[in-house]
Amino acid sequence: MADVLGPLNLITLGIGAIIGAGIFVLTGSAAAQYAGPAIILSFVLAGIACAFAGLCYSEFASLIPIAGSAYTYGYATLGELFAWIIGWDLILEYAFGAATVASGWSGYVVSFLQDYGIHLPPQLIATPGTQMVQFQGRWEPLARMLDHFKEAKIDPATLPHAVGVINLVALVAIFLVTTILVIGIKESANLNSAIVIVKVGIVLVFIGIALKWVLSNPEKAAANWAPFIPANAGEFGKYGWSGIARASAVIFFAYIGFDAVSTAAQEAKNPQRDMPIGILGSLAICTVLYILVAGLLCGVVKYTALNVPDPVAVGIDATGVRWGSFLVKVGAIAGLGSVMLVMLLGQSRVFFSMSRDGLLPQWAGAVHPRFRTPWISTILVGFFVAFFAALIPIGILGELVSIGTLLAFVIVCAGVWVLRVKKPELHRPFKTPMVPLVPIMGILISGLMMCSLPLDTWLRLIIWLVIGMAIYFTYGASHSRVQAIRAAAEAKAQP
Ligand code: ALA
Repeated sequence: MADVLGPLNLITLGIGAIIGAGIFVLTGSAAAQYAGPAIILSFVLAGIACAFAGLCYSEFASLIPIAGSAYTYGYATLGELFAWIIGWDLILEYAFGAATVASGWSGYVVSFLQDYGIHLPPQLIATPGTQMVQFQGRWEPLARMLDHFKEAKIDPATLPHAVGVINLVALVAIFLVTTILVIGIKESANLNSAIVIVKVGIVLVFIGIALKWVLSNPEKAAANWAPFIPANAGEFGKYGWSGIARASAVIFFAYIGFDAVSTAAQEAKNPQRDMPIGILGSLAICTVLYILVAGLLCGVVKYTALNVPDPVAVGIDATGVRWGSFLVKVGAIAGLGSVMLVMLLGQSRVFFSMSRDGLLPQWAGAVHPRFRTPWISTILVGFFVAFFAALIPIGILGELVSIGTLLAFVIVCAGVWVLRVKKPELHRPFKTPMVPLVPIMGILISGLMMCSLPLDTWLRLIIWLVIGMAIYFTYGASHSRVQAIRAAAEAKAQP
């Protein structure tokens, strides 16, 4: 692999992977259902957790600048079993992450098509069992419209209904991205830069337009921002402080991707210096943008009206700037595409490393003779991801991704600390400051966010890890190349 990426490329790569469904989709539902305008605080909290984890990732990425990210760091510091757990857990981050983004992408595509009078059959644009209702010519999920109907005194029973069968749009998105990855249209740095410019440009346009609106309509904005922290509705996570914590765990999804910079370490010109710049730089820029977007969004639209598939477009619509919504939708559709690409690519890199170590079968890392891509694992992953995206609601997917990634953060933070104690003499080009305070804070805040996620998300995580352990002990442990080498060395040493 060529050493071509400089610090600016790495920051761009990070932003390309970070800005996606989190800010464009999940911010709306998290504000509407959990935090209200205090979603700003949720973004601050999640940003702090990511900063601690980012500092720990940076130490590893400069110390072990090879593909595989957290999986590789786990292997180097905590041993094979932990490495397996992280590798398995990263599937939640990358594969399920891609499914979540596909689901968000579908929301924007459907909304965009409906703007132009193209209405796909409602059964084919929603996950199974979703109640759909037709209102003002558009098909929308009933659950999202209930508050609006209540306010407008509309009886939904009088409107045409349908029930979702499959989210075909999300499925098609994953098939398209998988095809691109198999054929191997390389993540051209130029294409990525172009998409990043579009994405950041659109976020800035939103910030500019919304800020102007807020400054010209201060009373309306103040009314929308009040109450800043809506009173808790009697259950954990529904507004109040627990709502802020839960929303932070949900919108944490928006920050995922800065660790993708670390998977590109082998292509960096000067990884020791530039990895931390790429990771922390992209994180810092996105944190500032997110806090501004979330704050302004709740200023232009009452948070209760934000539970929609395209909240940023709805926000810009509310300012009365008609072309803004078109721009946001086109930008989101292009921008989310690049996030899916990076996530599925990250997944195939992790599988590649795991199969090289013998923890997964050889074919998982098999490279296509002509396209030079890990085609079998890419197709297999694409198939499963498309299936999840088509059948599981975005909320469930997003929470699973958040809990899985937070677990990876906890392990990486612990890994930095463990390695400092076990191998203090190693030359670390980038040192996480204030060890063990920073790793401990990373573990605590990530842990707090994990604890604020619902019980059923925890159950899904536990079931996922149990399946992973079963595979490790029936396959991985007996096929591990590292263990085989170690056993052979020990046998040789025997007299
Ligand atoms: N951070 C990425 C997104 O929000 C995963 O889509």
